[in-house]
Amino acid sequence: MDLYGQAIAKFKNLLERAMQTDLPEPTAMTLATTDQAGRPSARAVLLKGVDEQGLVFSTNTRSRKGTQLAATPSAALCFFWQPLNEQVLVEGDVAAVSDAEADVYWATRPRDSQVGAWASQQSGPLEKRELLLERAKRYRQVYSGRDVPRPPHWSGYRLLADRIEFWTAGDARLHHRTCYKKQGEAWTVTLLNPYRGSYRLCGSRRL
Ligand SMILES: Cc1cc2nc3c(=O)[nH]c(=O)nc-3n(C[C@H](O)[C@H](O)[C@H](O)COP(=O)(O)O)c2cc1C
Repeated sequence: MDLYGQAIAKFKNLLERAMQTDLPEPTAMTLATTDQAGRPSARAVLLKGVDEQGLVFSTNTRSRKGTQLAATPSAALCFFWQPLNEQVLVEGDVAAVSDAEADVYWATRPRDSQVGAWASQQSGPLEKRELLLERAKRYRQVYSGRDVPRPPHWSGYRLLADRIEFWTAGDARLHHRTCYKKQGEAWTVTLLNPYRGSYRLCGSRRL
């Protein structure tokens, strides 16, 4: 197995372990994007799939992140699975998934989320909450008794990793960092020095 395959296999193994914990959202990750001026923003999204090509998430393409990805198609992801004491950081370019792939993800969504995707103009200003509830009610009626189609502005993105870093809590706070990096067409693997900080295996209760 090549180094990239090794990194993806390691990631999948950690994800499976995270799924077996009592974490309510083991697939949740922080997604960082940047605007055209290079200013970063971050938010949580759910991982929808991982394969040899990359990591997939879905969203409204007209959202703030969608607008940023259209202008600057690269991003960073951060998973922190506290019960495992593991962090994974993934960086790379981002590509839109095909319509066919977006349709597959759309079909897995609960009906209420599908209606919500029509009702919410994600990241746009909302004058008052009642308007959102009214729009949801209207779309529930519009699609009553039939499948809710995927809105043209709801799709997915695939992050094509060129850097994957694994962080594992170590004894005496000497944590482990292993960085897989794409250089040209080849992947390298390097150990990195850790931050010898106050993160403790038992959890931290102070800032
Ligand atoms: C645990 C969690 C999971 C979320 N998953 C998604 C998701 O998969 N897709 C999405 O668009 N927003 C998701 N959100 C909402 C985003 O964090 C964010 O509010 C929204 O996408 C708008 O972000 P933006 O204005 O930066 O584009 C999630 C929020 C939380 C707390």
